[in-house]
Amino acid sequence: MDATTVVIFGASGDLARRKLIPALYGLHRKGRLPPRFHLVGAARSSATDETFRQRARDGIAEFAELEPQSWTTFEEQIHYLHGDFATADGAKGLTRFLDQLGQAAGGDHNVLFYLSTPPEAYVGLVESLGQAGLLRQSKGYRRVVIEKPFGSDLASARELNAAILGHVHEDQIYRIDHYLGKETVQNVLVLRFANSIFEPIWNRNYIDHVEITVAEAVGIEHRGRFYDDVGVLRDVFQNHVLQLLTMAAMEPPASFDPEALRDERRKVLESIRPIGEDLAVQETVRGQYAGYQDEEGVAVDSQTATFGAIRLFIDNWRWQGVPWYLRSGKAMSEKTTQIAVQFKSVPHLMFPLAPHETIRPNALFLCLQPDEGIHLRFEVKVPDSLREFRSVDMEFHYDEDFGPAAIPDAYERLLLDALNGDASLFMRADAIELGWSWIDPICRAWDAGALPLLSYDRGTWGPSAAGQWLAADGRTWSMGCGEHRQ
Ligand code: BG6
Repeated sequence: MDATTVVIFGASGDLARRKLIPALYGLHRKGRLPPRFHLVGAARSSATDETFRQRARDGIAEFAELEPQSWTTFEEQIHYLHGDFATADGAKGLTRFLDQLGQAAGGDHNVLFYLSTPPEAYVGLVESLGQAGLLRQSKGYRRVVIEKPFGSDLASARELNAAILGHVHEDQIYRIDHYLGKETVQNVLVLRFANSIFEPIWNRNYIDHVEITVAEAVGIEHRGRFYDDVGVLRDVFQNHVLQLLTMAAMEPPASFDPEALRDERRKVLESIRPIGEDLAVQETVRGQYAGYQDEEGVAVDSQTATFGAIRLFIDNWRWQGVPWYLRSGKAMSEKTTQIAVQFKSVPHLMFPLAPHETIRPNALFLCLQPDEGIHLRFEVKVPDSLREFRSVDMEFHYDEDFGPAAIPDAYERLLLDALNGDASLFMRADAIELGWSWIDPICRAWDAGALPLLSYDRGTWGPSAAGQWLAADGRTWSMGCGEHRQ
């Protein structure tokens, strides 16, 4: 029987402790890991198997649920190897170690390399693995999982793709955007394509506009040095926000084949109308929360944006003329990720309205986190009134129907897919490059200070100008998912 080993580079880092190891343990508990499984933590710092296992155990206890019996069997499969794996010596040590595991296994030996190091290390590592022959697929598969950020602009993303593709084929690469691993993000496709009532109205004939919000209550926490170089556009818009957009906007693929899905997502990215540097002033808003410049690791005169709003159009038959308003920010009122689909008003209203009365158009809110669910807003008659109307929400909440622990962490799903060779929820090289080519001019305009950096207080919904900017289009930001909490 084949053996499978996951090697995590950067194993002493935060991501491994908080996400990757707890996710692998979660899969172990559910009996979903392949048989004869090994986890090798690889990093520069010296540690023993024992200390690494202890650290893994602490991480699982803190970020997941540790269950003694399954931990004992999981622990036996964990090893630690220290060294500089971007050098020939380091790669040799790793080769020896993997050979031992492979020989003990007898049959073929599959290896999944997970790059969870700082991005500067990616190319050196892949080159060194390639030169050592560790990426050659003769006895079992060799796959490489790469964490975001994937480049910092189009040119660097292209370089990175070219360097990596010099050593592995595209079908061996799994570029992660953890938003695609979220259950609720995948459910956008199920809602649209496993039900017949939404798709006929999911277009420019019925939809007035779509809003995508990725709001976080936390600031930049301990990541000042990293964040100050990237800002909200590169950190969240180029990847997570674009993933939500492609899931909501794509055409139904003919099959659930990974390449068919990725082709449809690519077509959406190709259809986004470019926003040139000159248009960024009117199509975008940027802001920075008060106190950001005092955060550790941030320049005292930093002009990095922690909030952004963008209006975009998708030039195809389905979406022509429908504005998509995207916004994301740190230190906002609350953590909310939602897609709000705002429908058009009724074509003719037969009910006479009093001067102060309005009828709100229907809206569908896809609440992606933290209160996962779907809300549909429609008008009803207020009982015992002559003709008074009010909006109500029909709500589905995941935790009510499936229990509070039903939603696994995104990394569990993504790691399982990578082990199974299913790349549907990973980024192909073309999608990465299309995302960058769309956002690059906006980044350049922002970096050049072409539009004001508006200040906003922590715990608000961003600069008030973002509301006025939308109001100029006759619209307001909606809080469909959080409305009942306000
Ligand atoms: C990361 C960004 O990719 O996503 C962070 O670098 C952000 O800045 C995080 O906080 C948001 O992820 P989630 O899953 O908490 O919405």
